Amino acid sequence: MILIIDFGSQYNQLIARRVREQQVFCRIEPPSISLEAVRGLTPEGIILSGGPASVTEEKSPRCDPGIFELGVPVLGICYGMQFMVDALGGRVAAARKREYGFAELTRIDSADPLFRGLKAPRTCWMSHGDSIARLPSGFRTTAATANTPVAAAADRKRRLFGVQFHPEVAHTPQGRIILRNFLFGVCGCRRSWTMKSFIRQAVDEIRRTAGEGRVILGLSGGVDSTVTAVLLHRALGNRLTCIFVDNGLLREGEADRLKELFARHLHIRVRFVNAARRFLKALSGVSDPERKRKIIGRVFLEVFEAEARRIRGVEFLAQGTLYPDVIESMSAYGGPSSVIKSHHNVGGLPRRMRLKLIEPLRHLFKDEVRRLGRELGLPAELIWRQPFPGPGLGIRVIGEITARRLQILRAVDRILLEEIKAAGWYRRLWQAFAVLLPVKTVGVMGDARTYEYIAAIRAVTSRDAMTADWARLPQAFLARVSNRIINEVSGVNRVVYDISSKPPSTIEWE
Ligand code: XMP
Repeated sequence: MILIIDFGSQYNQLIARRVREQQVFCRIEPPSISLEAVRGLTPEGIILSGGPASVTEEKSPRCDPGIFELGVPVLGICYGMQFMVDALGGRVAAARKREYGFAELTRIDSADPLFRGLKAPRTCWMSHGDSIARLPSGFRTTAATANTPVAAAADRKRRLFGVQFHPEVAHTPQGRIILRNFLFGVCGCRRSWTMKSFIRQAVDEIRRTAGEGRVILGLSGGVDSTVTAVLLHRALGNRLTCIFVDNGLLREGEADRLKELFARHLHIRVRFVNAARRFLKALSGVSDPERKRKIIGRVFLEVFEAEARRIRGVEFLAQGTLYPDVIESMSAYGGPSSVIKSHHNVGGLPRRMRLKLIEPLRHLFKDEVRRLGRELGLPAELIWRQPFPGPGLGIRVIGEITARRLQILRAVDRILLEEIKAAGWYRRLWQAFAVLLPVKTVGVMGDARTYEYIAAIRAVTSRDAMTADWARLPQAFLARVSNRIINEVSGVNRVVYDISSKPPSTIEWE
């Protein structure tokens, strides 16, 4: 296990991903982690991440310098290296030249265990304002660039290493070799982090945590909550109760697909609550997107809670929380806080019903959840499902939500997705969906004048939804989709394609 201490770098999750790609488990913890806790984790190695602060500032984040005395190898990256140098008696100073972007490593000590198999010159990615002015005793320079005389340093005896550049980013092409050298050459890690081993551990841990208690889980239809359900079911059998609330804002056939999957394929019992009318009633006459979201959230909670209270002896609420949410909710420089962002809008439910949380996926990234799903035998369609927002079509019917407008949007959406899948675009896109506008315009069909709604098509590519670009779908494809929609869906006489990127737009329209 590798411990990553997070000094606030925008790349800290990337470090974790890179380590896990090598099938080595790792955890990210804030600098406030105690030496005792570090010892308790028995890490095979420690990585100190980069960060925006400067060690020359008084309030810069620091972890217990005792970690350097544990005999565990440490790799400091950028700020992490500077902190190590500072903590061990070296000196860090503001660099005369800030270095940002690509740099060439002109000298590399290829006898250093970190750089085995590498030779200068090598491109790396730099982003720092401070430099090492004096190394602590025991350290030697192991790499340099034109502007950074100490681009890397090591104390081989104590197995302490530092790099001023970022080996975890794609802009450092040999970074993977450097990380691999650290993990396997220096720390002696084994490639033991596989989804098979995860399932074993997770099932054991769920059993230990739940004891004889009963667990409830809200299903959304997405991959996270489904994988959570399968894991819990393996561990607890019928002591797990899944609840699915049909809010009437789902895509066409979605509720039936979910029923079929759970009943026929997974053999997990689900309590289905059809609350479509209740949601629609609460949303009647509401156009403001924020109010819509609030209403959908509130009604969901009421319905979910009422159903949960009908199940006797429940002690736990399970959630499909993923690692990025856990990391985000730990403040970078504070203690690992227990404020977990709730995924499924269950908000204060655990407190009100005195439920304890079970979050078996809380150490996994999305791609790991997908691999886990595959390992658990879930169908590919589900594993590769595009994200679908909790408030569903409620935020895609712009303006007032009525049964008729939902029906129109569902029909448009079905045609779009059929075509997207048929053309082989589904997996290449982050999301593709339709939006119904509250505007009617004039058209002509046959000899008659029409006055109907506009449907907008949104298709985006993205890595993580933080930024997104509109997909360059082929014109012939767009023509076919538009044709089909206008011909097959009554109520729509105009289709437009959204060509905005995020930022400044968002993915959803609301
Ligand atoms: P935006 O529109 O903010 O969306 O660019 C980013 C991603 O988040 C999804 N999204 C939601 N998911 N509940 C969810 O579970 C929500 O309320 C919600 N709003 C947006 C959106 O589909 C996109 O993938």
